[in-house]
Amino acid sequence: MENGKRDRDDMEVQTAPRKPRVLLAASGSVAAIKFGNLCHCFAEWAEVRAVVSKSSLHFLDRLSLPREVTLYTDEDEWSSWNKIGDPVLHIELRRWADVMVIAPLSANTLAKIAGGLCDNLLTCIVRAWDYSKPVFVAPAMNTLMWNNPFTERHLCSLDELGITLIPPIKKRLACGDYGNGAMAEPSLIYSTVRLFWESQSLVRFRAVSKRWNSLLNNKSFINKHLHHRSKGNFA
Ligand SMILES: Cc1cc2nc3c(=O)[nH]c(=O)nc-3n(C[C@H](O)[C@H](O)[C@H](O)COP(=O)(O)O)c2cc1C
Repeated sequence: MENGKRDRDDMEVQTAPRKPRVLLAASGSVAAIKFGNLCHCFAEWAEVRAVVSKSSLHFLDRLSLPREVTLYTDEDEWSSWNKIGDPVLHIELRRWADVMVIAPLSANTLAKIAGGLCDNLLTCIVRAWDYSKPVFVAPAMNTLMWNNPFTERHLCSLDELGITLIPPIKKRLACGDYGNGAMAEPSLIYSTVRLFWESQSLVRFRAVSKRWNSLLNNKSFINKHLHHRSKGNFA
């Protein structure tokens, strides 16, 4: 009885799904002051790593990040590589992540992603990304930048890649102007990504159970396996 319980417990441990791995990234917008808050929202649910551009460091406070979240900068990309055979940070992070969220997304980083440029750690990860894995972006910029024709052009390119836009909101901006371009609230960014992830997991689960059901309803499959099992039992 006790052994049976231990076996069941072992099985539960082995089959427990791991936490999603979320790569959070910040680029150089004033909204990067909210990046610590964003990391705290995600860290409760997911395994989180953070990547920041050089300009974002003017706005964000490293100490506002949760302790368990490692922050990577362009310096880390170069200091972690010395010789051929050493791991390359942007490739490692791209492999590690299940989801990437760029919040805030600056006009500059938006333009670079749209054009395929990759001159820092953040854009190298995006350039190496496997687009079957989700990417979300939450732009943040002055209304004059947001309304500029380049924005729409660049967002169309991101849309073609399958990147999901979490649109900015209208409010009084840091510069005093009122209008569209402020980053969506961290809590909204978090709930959007989580909802998406959980609905995808449900779809995956349903697809797997559907495959299992059709397999189990398949007579030749059952006969083949029953046959093998009974042979084994009587051998
Ligand atoms: C005080 C200040 C605030 C800025 N705020 C924004 C902003 O909210 N959104 C934006 O797209 N660019 C903003 N910029 C410009 C970017 O920081 C600049 O384009 C930078 O090159 C972005 O670099 P990155 O995309 O590599 O992070 C701001 C610049 C300054 C000096």
